[in-house]
Amino acid sequence: MLDSVLPESFDAHVFLRDYWQKKPLLIKAGGVSFLDLIEPEELAGLACEDGVESRLVQVNAAQDTWTLRHGPFTEEDFLTLPESHYSLLVQAVDQWVDDVAALLADFAFIPSWRIDDVMISYATDQGNVGPHFDYYDVFLIQGMGQKRWQIGDICNSMTERSDSSGLRLLKNFVAREEWIVNPGDILYIPPGYSHYGVAIGNSMTYSVGFRAPAHADILSGVLDDAMDSLSEDRRFSDAIARLPQHPGEITADVVEHLQDIIREQMLDAQRIRQWFGRTMTIPKYPLQDDAADHAPHEHGEDCDHDHDDEEEQLLIESVVDLQKAVNKGAGVYKVPGARIAYALAEGKAELYADGECHMCDSRLLSLLQALSTPGKVDEIDRVVIAAAIKDDEASALLLSLYDGGSLVVG
Ligand code: SIN
Ligand code: CO
Repeated sequence: MLDSVLPESFDAHVFLRDYWQKKPLLIKAGGVSFLDLIEPEELAGLACEDGVESRLVQVNAAQDTWTLRHGPFTEEDFLTLPESHYSLLVQAVDQWVDDVAALLADFAFIPSWRIDDVMISYATDQGNVGPHFDYYDVFLIQGMGQKRWQIGDICNSMTERSDSSGLRLLKNFVAREEWIVNPGDILYIPPGYSHYGVAIGNSMTYSVGFRAPAHADILSGVLDDAMDSLSEDRRFSDAIARLPQHPGEITADVVEHLQDIIREQMLDAQRIRQWFGRTMTIPKYPLQDDAADHAPHEHGEDCDHDHDDEEEQLLIESVVDLQKAVNKGAGVYKVPGARIAYALAEGKAELYADGECHMCDSRLLSLLQALSTPGKVDEIDRVVIAAAIKDDEASALLLSLYDGGSLVVG
């Protein structure tokens, strides 16, 4: 696989300053040609699996209409497709194919907890999903073939869309810029920008998409946590110091008292941080709970999601088992799709893993950083693990991540 999909000339500082969340950018491929990380047939195979989200979009060019079908699909579905004018889109391929997950290491200039998934589309000639906008940033990495991308205006929830196909397509898309992309070219599109990509011949696109919770979800998430922590005993109270001017009036000091209650509950930094850490690390799709299915792969080897080439995986039941396994040379691996982040606050550390928060001592920082680094390989740095298993708290943390299904040992 490639060392990096980003060309050497790519300057992350300039990108963050001038483009990220601001305006689209076409990043032309560097010298090395981009080789697809998955074959179209394998992508179709994934789209036949339960638990993998996939869509087939067919274009009826004569009527200017689109038809959307959701997977899982059957082999029959693919055999009956026409030669052109369709796209197959599969979400979260990074959760199933290690080489695709490794792509994410190139985007480490953006916090890893912002990354949502890598969706891969395979389109036949003229295949497309129609003009639309997304609420998230996206890097569209061109794999095989070519695509014509048109970028239009910035849209929002008021922009007119038609939902007859279920694709929420724009009614009045006007192209302002147009590019033909080739293998390895990357088109960055900020949230809200309308776009329309049409395949020229058979074509594959790898979309690295980012998570951006709606403000409504942030408020309701923090509120739910606040409500869970509040006992019924805590009630509105007033020490009426003076006679009301009128018994029917709700005075300003009552509102101030209510503001104090809301401020105390909703602006609590620890509650907000922990809610956010847990929420941003919830896996896109449930991780496979059978640890035997998470077998790590020989790196560099073509890996498929069903892990037929399973390596020896060790059953760990205690810290002592973990220490013994590591001392005998076993590696600690992140399960594909596992999401890990951390925060430091008030002299302590918090590790968030797949929707759970673990309180830790801040001396574990190097371990937390190693666990939360999106890597070219899914193995956690051996030097850091060797140090961690000598520390009781660090070992206990690794064991609970193993028990929680975020890590495997093998
Ligand atoms: C595609 O891969 O063709 C569609 C991706 C997108 O427009 O978001
Ligand atoms: Co899009």
